[in-house]
Amino acid sequence: MAAIRGVFSSNFGFIMAAAGSAVGLGNIWGFPTQAASNGGAAFLLMYLVLAFCLAYPAFMAEILIGRYGQANAVSSLQKIANNAWQKKFAITVGLMGLIGASLILSFYSIVAGWMMAHTIEPIAVVVNMPNIAHWLTDFSVSRNLVFTAVFTLFTMFIISKGVENGIEKWSKRLMPFMLLILVLLIIYVLTLDGAKAGVIAYLSPDLSRIFEPNLLLNALGQAFFSLSLGSGVMIIYGSYIAKKENIVSLGAYVTCIDVGIAFLSGLLIIPAMYVAQAQGVEIFNQQGQLLSEDTLVFTVLPHLFTQMGSVGLLCAFAFFALMSVASLTSSISLLEAPVSYVVERFNVSRKRSTIVVSVVIFLISTLIITNFSTLFGLVITISTQYSQPIVAMLCCVFVGWIWHRNSVLNELKQGDITVENSFFWKVWPWYTKLVCPIAITAVFIHKFV
Ligand code: TRP
Repeated sequence: MAAIRGVFSSNFGFIMAAAGSAVGLGNIWGFPTQAASNGGAAFLLMYLVLAFCLAYPAFMAEILIGRYGQANAVSSLQKIANNAWQKKFAITVGLMGLIGASLILSFYSIVAGWMMAHTIEPIAVVVNMPNIAHWLTDFSVSRNLVFTAVFTLFTMFIISKGVENGIEKWSKRLMPFMLLILVLLIIYVLTLDGAKAGVIAYLSPDLSRIFEPNLLLNALGQAFFSLSLGSGVMIIYGSYIAKKENIVSLGAYVTCIDVGIAFLSGLLIIPAMYVAQAQGVEIFNQQGQLLSEDTLVFTVLPHLFTQMGSVGLLCAFAFFALMSVASLTSSISLLEAPVSYVVERFNVSRKRSTIVVSVVIFLISTLIITNFSTLFGLVITISTQYSQPIVAMLCCVFVGWIWHRNSVLNELKQGDITVENSFFWKVWPWYTKLVCPIAITAVFIHKFV
């Protein structure tokens, strides 16, 4: 390719973009609901351990592959391969990642569309348009299609602008804004009656559950989804990091932000559920478990907001705006992975590539929306439970077994000449070579037997 590749203009730019990809519905919605149904702080504790011990090393493997390859996921993996069969293997793994990313985006933009519709609903209520307000929150094909399309257009707009003027600029704007809304909401919810019981439930671990296989499985899956692994996303973001940057600490910052936001989201959602209970909303199901997933976000919280009167309208708006913004910074990373591949592989302009890829993904979303009960769960399962862990594991195999150790070290040294003597270099190569592949395979096998 003759065109000059994009590059993040600063460390802060990369951190915001990668953290923007990582922080999304998975943190604000997925993490708290998983924690709520898996023993509160016990889940939090194991999540922390797995995020740093397994997800971070795998994350480092992916961004390093990208920075070395200076290209999309497929070409970057190919550059590491040493012979013909390894190159074929590289193409397969890379394409699997990109197809996975496209499938994730196809359902992610539907869910993000719901968030946008719920953001607008309080406005419709204020301007006295009850029919529109009802349409916005009612589950219909028309609402789903319209808002998936709107959300897709936002994502396309940012991606068509490229790395520095699109991804980096918007991540730098949206991420601090998102954090501000999150913190304001937490402060407000913690002042309400009942919140204290929620904080206690969230932060006191039920230690007997720590080694429950299901808890570990869910925590690992959550950590992988949250760090956007196994989809080529972090390979392409890694390829936009300048060679002079210290990639080890950049990766650590992103992991810390991701885990930190998940923790804060728990501090918002779980106390909010107990506040709802104090106001008479049911938060436990018949088996005595906390309600979670869609019931939580679309029933429990809206109930709470309704009971809070006009402040509730503002809270509903802020909460769903938070969800929408978090989804947008994630969806741009999901779209960038296939778009950058099409640009570099077929030598077409970024605009054209963005349009073609988005239309294909939107068509998949349309198929899901019109066959919701059969396809929605299926696409989520294929992309997040099969494709993502397999590709993440194979990326570790590439770094641990195929890529020459000296070449890995040289790549790391570019941004930090002392890395050879660091704790990271003593531990991480073994992690990517043995611990990550074995752990991911074990989890995978356990899930299906
Ligand atoms: N990590 C995001 C979240 O927590 C979602 C996401 C963005 C993602 N890019 C990804 C998930 C790539 C898997 C793969 O919501």
